[in-house]
Amino acid sequence: MKLSPPSVPDHDLNKQLRAAKSQLAIYAKDLKELLVREKKKAKKLEAVNKQMQAYAQDLKAAYHAERQKTMELEKAYADTVVRLTLASRYKDEETGTHIQRLSHYAKTLGLSIGLSEDEAQLIFDAAPMHDVGKVSIPDMIMQKRGPLDEQEWDIVKQHPVFGANLLTGSPSQLLETAREIALTHHERWDGTGYPQGLQKTEIPLGGRMVMLVDTYDALRSQRPYKPAFSHAKVCDIMLHGDHRTRPSHFDPQLLDAFREIHEQFDIIFSEIVEEGPSTSVVD
Ligand SMILES: [Fe+2]
Ligand SMILES: [Fe+2]
Repeated sequence: MKLSPPSVPDHDLNKQLRAAKSQLAIYAKDLKELLVREKKKAKKLEAVNKQMQAYAQDLKAAYHAERQKTMELEKAYADTVVRLTLASRYKDEETGTHIQRLSHYAKTLGLSIGLSEDEAQLIFDAAPMHDVGKVSIPDMIMQKRGPLDEQEWDIVKQHPVFGANLLTGSPSQLLETAREIALTHHERWDGTGYPQGLQKTEIPLGGRMVMLVDTYDALRSQRPYKPAFSHAKVCDIMLHGDHRTRPSHFDPQLLDAFREIHEQFDIIFSEIVEEGPSTSVVD
């Protein structure tokens, strides 16, 4: 016998359909609201993102402007000091070529003891300012022909302190290194230097380096109180001493390095020369 499906009355079916329809309408409404909310959120996020990008752009521009300003300031500092250095030279027997040679010896020496290119370059740039304090010494002392008396000599011995005072208080690394060098370039390893009588590593490396290269160049150059000496004679004086200069004045590590690379000093000396008549050299 064949069974027929139970029949559902029409009005029940319609009722169920209506219920399903209104449920669907509710779902659709919820979905629509959700979509609108998500769209709003996305828009807000986009706005925030745009704002962040604008801030980042502003920050980048401000950073670059600040960097530019710092670089200009550093250049201005260095420029001022170079001018001071030039001014100090008018009062001194030391010449422009002496200052240039000093930078080259110091960099060569620095690289030979293992300083990085940047560290050696910093000494190269700062070394020329070592005697800037001489601007503060009265002309009558700086340009005196004869030997200085004790009182005058005491004043000259203050030039490292005057120089350091001129260079102090700058945020520039170059000027801070220059200040250290200006203050300590007459100190000696064995403590017999001035103005503070510092010893050994109490003296900053830059000061020890400039002291050695300044001595080499002064010995090679003619001064009112001495003739120019040959490279061989200067090496002999620095490595073995004479009545004024003792090997114990120099940092032993630097003196060892000098012993190794002294020929490069001779090359620098002969390549950066003064215009004008040549001076006679004593062997
Ligand atoms: Fe000096
Ligand atoms: Fe010098």
